[in-house]
Amino acid sequence: MYVCLCQAVTDQDIRDAVDDGVQTVSQLGESYGVATGCGRCQQMAQELIDERLSEKQFYAA
Ligand code: FES
Repeated sequence: MYVCLCQAVTDQDIRDAVDDGVQTVSQLGESYGVATGCGRCQQMAQELIDERLSEKQFYAA
């Protein structure tokens, strides 16, 4: 599903970005442009980042 309609970025794109080292919405904005337009995607992008980081921590333990 699209999270950022302005930049056509999906939830899977965001998970992949976190797997590649992204940890903040601002970093996501630098690499994908997320939340650099209307900004409506910012909260959902943050939630997806947090969720993926938690999953990575869980499986790394
Ligand atoms: S939906 Fe992401 S900047 Fe507009």
